[in-house]
Amino acid sequence: MNLPNLKEARVRSDKKVEYLENDNNIKKMFDGKKYFLKTYGCQMNVHDSEEIRKYLELLGFSETDTLEDSDIVVLNTCAIRENAHDKVFGYLGRCKHLKKDKKDLIVAIGGCMSQEENVVNEIKTKHPYVDIVFGTHNINEFPKLVMNATGIQDIEVYSCEGNVFENVLYSRDSKIKAWVNIMYGCDKFCTYCIVPYTRGKQRSRKMDKILKEVQELKNNGYKEITLLGQNVNAYAKDLNDKTTFAMLLEECAKIGIERIRFVTSHPWDFTDEMIDIIAKYDNIMPYIHLPLQAGSSKILKLMGRRYTKEEYIELFNKIKTRIPNVAITTDIIVGFPNETEEEFNETLDVVNKCKYDGAYTFIYSPREGTPAALMNDSIDLKTKEERLYKLNEIINKYSKEANEKLVGKIVKVLIEDVSEKDKEKVFGYTDTMKLVNVIGGSDKIGEIVDVKITDAKSFSLDGEVL
Ligand code: 5AD
Ligand code: SF4
Repeated sequence: MNLPNLKEARVRSDKKVEYLENDNNIKKMFDGKKYFLKTYGCQMNVHDSEEIRKYLELLGFSETDTLEDSDIVVLNTCAIRENAHDKVFGYLGRCKHLKKDKKDLIVAIGGCMSQEENVVNEIKTKHPYVDIVFGTHNINEFPKLVMNATGIQDIEVYSCEGNVFENVLYSRDSKIKAWVNIMYGCDKFCTYCIVPYTRGKQRSRKMDKILKEVQELKNNGYKEITLLGQNVNAYAKDLNDKTTFAMLLEECAKIGIERIRFVTSHPWDFTDEMIDIIAKYDNIMPYIHLPLQAGSSKILKLMGRRYTKEEYIELFNKIKTRIPNVAITTDIIVGFPNETEEEFNETLDVVNKCKYDGAYTFIYSPREGTPAALMNDSIDLKTKEERLYKLNEIINKYSKEANEKLVGKIVKVLIEDVSEKDKEKVFGYTDTMKLVNVIGGSDKIGEIVDVKITDAKSFSLDGEVL
């Protein structure tokens, strides 16, 4: 199998990664200057941006949401689908233009795209005004790169092998909910997916370090944590110390933080032990994101997913039976190479059986360097778009039905903030991750309150504080 560029990209630099023990090495040399930070992609990137933001603040920058006002532009990129690339190159065009008048502007690209050799080569050859390219594996090098970037046009990409960092500094988006990385990378190598190449092999953090972070978050008043990883239920398999994800979950629950959830789970690694722990503890949210990807066993095999349609449905039913009121959401890809109408209908069949609370749906996008990108594909884009449309209609119907079941019920909502659209309302999420717009809770931000649900839509609920 030919995976040339990306494998090289993983070991491109032998630079030793020095860990920034504390913030003393960062000089406030950009006081009064502004940063523009744009984040694409998954929760992992959102959380990485919290680290990037911390360094920008330590360097003296303050935030602006206007690119043209900024002294440094940082794009934290995603590589999972082609359209993510296009958006980033759109921003780069604006940076190029801006730099004509503003010579000191620093342009930095981080995230998954900077782990792709072909992208880095494209930046080097076609976008020489980019000052910094930094990877996903040692973001703590970012301040050094910025301090060196003034006046020096240089590109640095680091190796992504083997690092797990502790005591990472974050400027968190919320004072109520926090992300907690429990692992980095992924070893599953689903044939369509670029993540194992851009984020490297699976590296788990030690359980005691994670628990310490969770305890600190609780002490600091956080109400909800999300344990984060590409494949959380494979947690610790690389540590060889008999730790399991279920053990970690139980220890987190015992710390007593109000709400705990986790993303993302792979059906293949979902154990009975995990189901028991979720059912046992009230503060583990009855919410599971369980990517299906496809309903046909043949396509699942070609995707390298390691389960059949029947095994998935059996697991789904087991979770539903053993965890009362659980909400399950999923990810689905339509139009994997050569997917027939019959095979697509199998996906619809699973959706009709599982009646998901919600789903993220995608048209398959070939990613250079992955095995699936080498497969010939006889299905045209129009057919794929029609399938996506059809799938979404069914998904939305079930989301709405799940929401309608809650009308008239009293649910617990963690109130997060004033609603953007209607300043008279606040919004928050149930423990099953349903968005609720609430009347009469403005003094309850940061609290978990009882809300009576008054109306249901496809993607949200309305309610009032009791
Ligand atoms: N094309 C389309 N969707 C993809 N995903 C991952 N790789 C691809 C790809 N090449 C989807 C999967 C995954 C989600 C995060 O993105 O459904 O679960
Ligand atoms: Fe990608 Fe599969 Fe790993 Fe998820 S489990 S990140 S889809 S390789």
